[in-house]
Amino acid sequence: MNSPDPLSPRLAARMADIEPFHVVVLVTRAKELEAQGRTIVNMVIGEPDAPSAAPIAEAGIRAIQSGHVRYTPGLGTTALRRAIAQWYLSRYAVDLPAERIGVMPGSSGAMLVTMGVLLDPGDEVLMADPSYPCNRHFVRAMEGRARCIPVGADTAYQLTAAIVERHWSTRTRAVMVASPSNPTGTVIPRDELRAIHDVVRARGGVLIVDEIYHGLTYGAHDTTVLEFGDDVFVLNSFSKYFGMTGWRLGWMVAPEAYMPAIEKLAQNLFISASDIAQQAAIAAFSPEAVAVHEQRREEFRAQRDFLLPRLRDLGFDIPVVPEGAFYIYANCSRHTDDSYAFCLDVLEKAGVAIAPGLDFGEHESSRHVRFSYPKPVPVLAEGVARLEKYLRSR
Ligand SMILES: Cc1ncc(COP(=O)(O)O)c(C=O)c1O
Repeated sequence: MNSPDPLSPRLAARMADIEPFHVVVLVTRAKELEAQGRTIVNMVIGEPDAPSAAPIAEAGIRAIQSGHVRYTPGLGTTALRRAIAQWYLSRYAVDLPAERIGVMPGSSGAMLVTMGVLLDPGDEVLMADPSYPCNRHFVRAMEGRARCIPVGADTAYQLTAAIVERHWSTRTRAVMVASPSNPTGTVIPRDELRAIHDVVRARGGVLIVDEIYHGLTYGAHDTTVLEFGDDVFVLNSFSKYFGMTGWRLGWMVAPEAYMPAIEKLAQNLFISASDIAQQAAIAAFSPEAVAVHEQRREEFRAQRDFLLPRLRDLGFDIPVVPEGAFYIYANCSRHTDDSYAFCLDVLEKAGVAIAPGLDFGEHESSRHVRFSYPKPVPVLAEGVARLEKYLRSR
């Protein structure tokens, strides 16, 4: 009998359900092309180019120099939790005890903890298809079942109360929405969010709302679901509006009764979020830093306003104007019925990197691509010119 090869992996079953970002193939190829001397217009990565605002960077440096390089309490420092509570008060007029806030390593950490405290094996979480791919993987990692519900332009690619009602099953434990959404940039209207909350509450489930793109809305109003009740889970982050992706810091707000379990799990998974990042994040709320964030928001809006009509002129269908985040989710079926092959070809021939729909779900994914637009307008203009030439030459 042959003994098993000790070097070949014997992976847990869950790993078969956890998919890589397909976009990584494109990013790697883009780097190779750049190493060969080509310039690539990168509209693939979900983060702005700009560094963190100066007050944040300075506070981070001060934190290192003054020895704030230790573990902190599992739910974060009191000072940061209070600063976040103050942000809810000033920004949304929501009065929140700091004890209901848990500071985590990114909203990614918050998501893992949320699924960990809520799900038993086989419990379902309803979410939209398309949506941010890691969400379903966090559910799977904690032995739950993500039920990704196909949604289209008619509901702005979002779940609605009626859809939630229709798909509720005896196994449904939670509903997860993101507003504004990645990849579509669409926002759930205030009344619809309230209606979703009502349905979930009536059914005895839990509503989880990813508010990570709050602050990055252009015309739409940011409604935190916390206005509607204390029985929700909210995930948020310093990554996007606050421009701190690489600091890996986010937070969650949960019902008070869940906080001991959240603390216990977070302690075990992470011990704590980075002390340095937590010190720096307090400065993210300073008026000087907020002025920078607001100025960047205006730049993102101008970038969206530049790119959107031009993509439509190029034959991409964008039926819903994205009102937030920094993405445009475009139907590319006038050009291809295989968006992944299309993205690879566009990268090779036009030197433009965009994300295939495949990364965000299965529903119509081969007919969609995502443009990430936080780039200076001249860079976007170059991308558009290259795409135009490419599409004309096909
Ligand atoms: C919708 C959404 N949620 C969560 C995340 C995770 O962000 P982070 O862990 O940096 O807070 C992202 C990152 O792109 C995202 O787009």
